[in-house]
Amino acid sequence: MKILRQLLIVTSMATIFTAACNTAEEKTEPANAAPEAQMKQEKWGTVDGKDVYLYTLTNKSGATIKITNYGGIVTSWVTPDKNGKSTSIVLGFDSLSGYLAKPPYFGAIIGRYGNRIAKGSFKIDTTTYTLAKNNGVNHLHGGDKGFDKVVWHGLTKKSSPSSTSITLHYVSLDGEEGYPGNLKVDVTYTLTDENELSIEYSAETDKPTVVNLTNHSYFNLTGDPSKTILDHSLQVNADKYTPVDKGLIPTGELKEVKGTAFDFLQPHTIGERIASVEGGYDHNFVLTRKEKGLELVATLSDSISGRKLEVFTEEPGLQFYSGNFLDGTIKTSNGTAINKYAALCLETQHFPDAPNQPAFPSTLLKPGEKYHTITKYKVSVSK
Ligand code: GLA
Repeated sequence: MKILRQLLIVTSMATIFTAACNTAEEKTEPANAAPEAQMKQEKWGTVDGKDVYLYTLTNKSGATIKITNYGGIVTSWVTPDKNGKSTSIVLGFDSLSGYLAKPPYFGAIIGRYGNRIAKGSFKIDTTTYTLAKNNGVNHLHGGDKGFDKVVWHGLTKKSSPSSTSITLHYVSLDGEEGYPGNLKVDVTYTLTDENELSIEYSAETDKPTVVNLTNHSYFNLTGDPSKTILDHSLQVNADKYTPVDKGLIPTGELKEVKGTAFDFLQPHTIGERIASVEGGYDHNFVLTRKEKGLELVATLSDSISGRKLEVFTEEPGLQFYSGNFLDGTIKTSNGTAINKYAALCLETQHFPDAPNQPAFPSTLLKPGEKYHTITKYKVSVSK
């Protein structure tokens, strides 16, 4: 009887797993794919009547990245420190319920517009569009239900001998959160054997709209969110930043970082000058680009773990947010309070409020055009 019951449980689990795998439209996986580069898929729950999965990407060195199609969230990135101890360098939860409690964008894809649009309003030609005011009087990170809170679908999986990729698709309908145009979005995450996470964003629209996609991972290179990031050292290739008003909307000025707490041209610890920055760092850095393509723009390092994170992007801006609004109310899956400065974000982007600031690089996307941008995070460790 007992054996029969166990057999039944095993069979039904196998059925659930097979069903989960079958929902993925798996594409070309070369027969010679290295066994090291792997992807595992498991059912994680249901949101809005849609299946939510957790995908685990593993590379040759044993690093793993977990991503869910709910919000396209990177839930963990486990890498070894200088002593070979593996821990996650991003804030995240072990179960879907953690995300349904709406933590502030942990690990998520942000869209249709990363960061703020003043007064939730912008104009294209003569038409004014009104968006949700979900951050005081302003619009933030795509609105009440941005790309971070929807179920993405149509996963495809691609593997090469030295990397594993998944693509998530989402169609944001005309009028969703107030934005014009049906916007088809693809985001491909690739983990390479060089411990790089590349995020490739593509989008197309059928009406003129604005687009600014990013990822909102919160990094703590110690792998221990009970420690702050104040001793992390940061270097950013930006000789200007965009000062903001009280509502964190850029004033329009591109201010020289020279002689200010925003000068990270040479590495500085985050804690060194943070007391002189009202509210902490939450600013867009104007990247000084040497070329047009993917370029190294920022380096974060932590001497405790020996880990280094390099950020490469094609974007003109980088939002450095030092976790100022984290206040201990959210706990990790094992109960650690996530306090102020427990982690930081390096969000590659076009500038906040660009739709209302004609002097900023444009975020307008027209029918027939292709939005395409790549950002890559690379982790390494030194003894
Ligand atoms: C971004 C914003 C911050 C804050 C966080 C999420 O980085 O710039 O002001 O809203 O997201 O809490």
